[in-house]
Amino acid sequence: MKTTTILTPLLAALLLASCSRRPAQESLPRLAVQGAATQLMVSGKPFLMLGGELGNSTAANLSALDTVFAHLRRVGLNTVLTPAYWELIEPQEGRFDFTSIDAAIAAARAHDLKLVFLWFGAWKNSMSCYAPLWVKESYAKYPRARAKSGRPLEMLTPFSDANLAADRRAFVALMGHLALTDAAERTVIMVQVENEIGMIPDARDYCPEATARFTAPVPRQLIGYLSAHEATLHPALRARWEANGRQAEGSWQKVFGEGLEADEIFMAYHYGLFVEEVARAGKEAYALPMYLNAALNSRGRKPGQYPSAGPLAHLLDVWRAAAPSIDFIAPDIYDPGFASWCAQYHASGNPLFIPEIRMSDDNAAKVFYAFGEHDAMGFSPFSIEDVRTSPLSKSYGVLRQLAPLLAEAQGKGKTCGFLFDRDSAWRVAELGGYRILGQHVYAFGWSPRARDGSPWPEAGALVIQLSDDEFLVAGSGVAVTFMSAHPDAPVTGIGYVDKVTVANGNVTPLYRLNGDQSHQGRHLRIEVGDWDIQRIKLYRYE
Ligand code: DGJ
Repeated sequence: MKTTTILTPLLAALLLASCSRRPAQESLPRLAVQGAATQLMVSGKPFLMLGGELGNSTAANLSALDTVFAHLRRVGLNTVLTPAYWELIEPQEGRFDFTSIDAAIAAARAHDLKLVFLWFGAWKNSMSCYAPLWVKESYAKYPRARAKSGRPLEMLTPFSDANLAADRRAFVALMGHLALTDAAERTVIMVQVENEIGMIPDARDYCPEATARFTAPVPRQLIGYLSAHEATLHPALRARWEANGRQAEGSWQKVFGEGLEADEIFMAYHYGLFVEEVARAGKEAYALPMYLNAALNSRGRKPGQYPSAGPLAHLLDVWRAAAPSIDFIAPDIYDPGFASWCAQYHASGNPLFIPEIRMSDDNAAKVFYAFGEHDAMGFSPFSIEDVRTSPLSKSYGVLRQLAPLLAEAQGKGKTCGFLFDRDSAWRVAELGGYRILGQHVYAFGWSPRARDGSPWPEAGALVIQLSDDEFLVAGSGVAVTFMSAHPDAPVTGIGYVDKVTVANGNVTPLYRLNGDQSHQGRHLRIEVGDWDIQRIKLYRYE
């Protein structure tokens, strides 16, 4: 049955007041630090999101949600990322209708799935297409960003108190509704604030208020942040600040130089201030973890040519300075260079969560690398409902088994990840006193695929250290050789290898693997097309 909640502003305020007294807040989903990793805790335990994001309009078709969520559960997800549409939630100014939210929560609960809501509020991929019509039409009250030419854009300007107040009120109402309806069951575990914020076709907004702020001094708060975090600033930002004399005050162009880069930094900071107000108020209503997602600039374009000033890696510090209520920043990966994007976003304390990645069979390999090498919090291909059969299901099946062990090991230097293709077919990692050579199984000279010019599927695996001489290796298409870390140390040999299953953190051997399956005791291997968890016991000899 559909439930409809229409809230007047007064009722919303009462609801929020009751939410803020809620005792359940400390047991809500939250982030916790374990060693070098940040983990999402759900019901007091680390929760690895084996996720997928719905296409933009799927969650508006309420009659299909149950079928979609049933399918996603069969695909192997434990978490669905789904939009919360401002235009549907507040169809009339100040009157809220949470039918679409309640329907998503009901479908998720029916199929034992968790939800991450994506606030399609003031901005969705730079634009303001999800603003309700009453906002769009009242452009005098809710002003637009402007191009350098003066042309108004289909984007709300962040330099408007009215825009901020409208977006914030709707977001607070959403969070208040979640507090009221979900604080006990906790189906909703995290919230993304806005979607791929970015300025285009110019690097900054040219509305009059923006230009006035651009000629004013850089706020002390930002300069103070740069000084306090100088050691960990992104190299590009630090270089820019230093190249312009490491100014402690001055205009944006004095501090960051004349050019589009200063425009972008200015814009990022002001988007950040807007988002901070929205997120902080939302957390006061219901304190779920909140993050931002970024459209990446993969082609080396200039600010203004790509959605600029969003939460991009080179602007991470600016966003952190402006929006401390945002817990972390996440990349949407649609372009090549997966390993490099992971490294850029798993940096200076920012944990890795991949809320969007282009749907591809190779995600089945990439997901092992993200969790094993970068302590990822979650992984989530876009338009996941379009998947019929995907090898990702097999990877998620393996990761579901491993989740408690992986969560226990994250942040402690007890895991690593491998990701291989034809161009990058091997790597040596250091782990637990061993050198570990990982290779694509097609990389061996004897493989018919080694030199036949055929395309290779990506291969991926993660390694978890169980004890001094025992490791789990899980993945597909990878061979792993364990070697002593020092050339003069005793030689490392394979005691034995078992194919295993894992349940509730307990490893159960299925059967012994040897002979051709371990290249006569030389390495552990998982063929392309197999998804295994194997346990290897090592020994030393001289
Ligand atoms: C990235 C956006 O965040 C998604 O909402 C969607 O528009 C995809 N791009 C489409 O490729």
